[in-house]
Amino acid sequence: MAERRLRHFLTLLDVAPAEARALLTRAGELKAMVRSGTVHEPLRNRTLAMIFEKSSTRTRVSFEAGMSQLGGHAIFLSPRDTQLGRGEPIEDSARVLSRMVDAVMIRTFAHEQVERFAANSQVPVINGLTDRFHPCQLLADMQTYFELRGDIRGRRVAWIGDGNNMCHSYINAARVFDFELRIACPEGFDPDADVLVAAGARCQVLRDPRTAAAGADLVATDVWASMGQEGEQAKRAKIFAPYQVDDGLMACAAPDALFLHCLPAHRGEEVAASVIDGPQSAVWDAAENRLHAQKALLEFLLVRSP
Ligand code: CP
Ligand code: NVA
Repeated sequence: MAERRLRHFLTLLDVAPAEARALLTRAGELKAMVRSGTVHEPLRNRTLAMIFEKSSTRTRVSFEAGMSQLGGHAIFLSPRDTQLGRGEPIEDSARVLSRMVDAVMIRTFAHEQVERFAANSQVPVINGLTDRFHPCQLLADMQTYFELRGDIRGRRVAWIGDGNNMCHSYINAARVFDFELRIACPEGFDPDADVLVAAGARCQVLRDPRTAAAGADLVATDVWASMGQEGEQAKRAKIFAPYQVDDGLMACAAPDALFLHCLPAHRGEEVAASVIDGPQSAVWDAAENRLHAQKALLEFLLVRSP
């Protein structure tokens, strides 16, 4: 048998469009298995190490529960109580951990950290969020759109707010799943030019949230101050105030538009309570789909990928 090629998932671009679509299909199958009580344990005796340098509820629980449902095990590691927090080089940590476990998930600050880890790892590395990208959330968001509305190809998506890690991952998703993305963000908070330019004409940055939301099939937003930017919260709250996703903004979108937010959310800031708790919100489905989409990803990286 040919040796399995080592695959990482640091951004959505690490999977080909056909692979990304197959992951969503598989996520739906795995979800149905959980619903019907079917036990599926292809990762028995396999271990996932999870390094969290930032807080997490969904990412930690979905990976840990996912590994356990697949018959494997997950280890939570924080810099507070590992040598990583005392300055052991990331390259050395990668060499050591990847001799002991079957995959590593990392949530950290600089995206370069996951790249350096992956470059020195013998096992698949998954990006559980960096300052630049959050690809696992996009698998769940896309799964949710496909489940509730069908194929997103050719649809119009509006990203409202900060040109942050989630925005960058929406830009990559537009390339992988072939949709139009209109980004509305205040001047000075644009997504990184290299990420945007690589996506070509299908992604454009606008200033007016209503223009971006006009006719959109999906409206998505995120916090105004991401993890690590807590000190800018007050300044950002003023600048981003016109970018709240409220009922008026949702009224600009298509009548059956969905609303998504990766969570945690701040009601009354980036989203009105009436929107996130309203009938167009699919945030709870998307949060649940983190579990199913990442199980599909783990299975793909450890068992099924070419
Ligand atoms: N959406 C998301 O990644 O949530 P957590 O920060 O709780 O993991
Ligand atoms: N942009 C947010 C996403 C949290 C899941 C952050 O990085 O804090």
